[in-house]
Amino acid sequence: MSELKVGLAGLGTVGAAVFRMLERRKAELEARTGRTLRVTAVAARDRSRDRGLDLGGVIWFEDPVALARDGDIDVFVELMGGDGDPAKAAVAAALDRGIPVVTANKALLAKCGVELAQRAEASRAGLHFEAAVAGGIPIVKTLRESLAGNTIERVSGILNGTCNYILTRMAEEKLSFHVCLGEAQRLGYAEADPTFDIDGFDTAHKLAILTSLAFGTQVDADSIYVEGIRQLTLADLEAADDLGYRVKLLGVAVRTETGIEQRVHPTMVPKHWPIAQVSGVTNAVAVDGDAVALTLVGPGAGGAATASAVVGDLFDVARGARGYTFGLPVAELTKAERAAMQRH
Ligand code: HSE
Repeated sequence: MSELKVGLAGLGTVGAAVFRMLERRKAELEARTGRTLRVTAVAARDRSRDRGLDLGGVIWFEDPVALARDGDIDVFVELMGGDGDPAKAAVAAALDRGIPVVTANKALLAKCGVELAQRAEASRAGLHFEAAVAGGIPIVKTLRESLAGNTIERVSGILNGTCNYILTRMAEEKLSFHVCLGEAQRLGYAEADPTFDIDGFDTAHKLAILTSLAFGTQVDADSIYVEGIRQLTLADLEAADDLGYRVKLLGVAVRTETGIEQRVHPTMVPKHWPIAQVSGVTNAVAVDGDAVALTLVGPGAGGAATASAVVGDLFDVARGARGYTFGLPVAELTKAERAAMQRH
């Protein structure tokens, strides 16, 4: 059976979960894709750390860019994070040599998505990022594929698990903001720099990606109005509760007469609305299309949920699917690509 050699950059909570998931689901993935998905090379900082993984036979790179540029791999998985180098240089190096990329890096895509998509189109490699938005919820595929027949009017939702976890625990258990944030960090939900979570920027990065997918526009994170949850107190949440509301950090993108409006801010949501009942690290994304309106609810952060999205993208790569282009027109398939797709 032909092998899909996976190069994995980043062996933190998510990277380790991807490694384990590929091992655990090996037989099923082989049966469904006709290929063996195997991590053959990794790049991570601390080689001596015991991650509980069997890394025997896996080639270790100190430098993720070297792995992307020189590794004997068929797909590059970027799970390092950060909107600049080395993540950007590594993703660019893989795409430039025609290696498809799977990434969970919303900050990088929000900042450089268009440029990276251009590189992917130029080399005919795919750029896949289901894991970058709303963790385990398959909202990228839903918007780009399943709802392709719809004109979308609005996309909104709870896009940051850490904030929703903090707001839920503060409201339900009367805990302080800092205790809840510490717990979210301990559980591996928060970003390396949690100010991205609590000041709303992580939600904004994800919203920028969703907006591009929903409205076919180029990613534009800079125009988003962003307000986080840092200033909220227990007293605010209690006052909202007395009035019949829960406070949620929402990201909203809506079509208006003057263009697409994007915003992120804490919102008082009536308690009986379904979105008010989304608690803990769970995310929810509501899409209003002209034919279909739906809400997807699921785990928004954490190793297993994010790994689920990464492995779903690897499945697509193994099946020969192309990635997404962030509002750029897709290049026409070559004759060889059409033939390859027919084989799948
Ligand atoms: N820090 C992010 C969150 C991780 O809490 O949602 C998933 O993107």
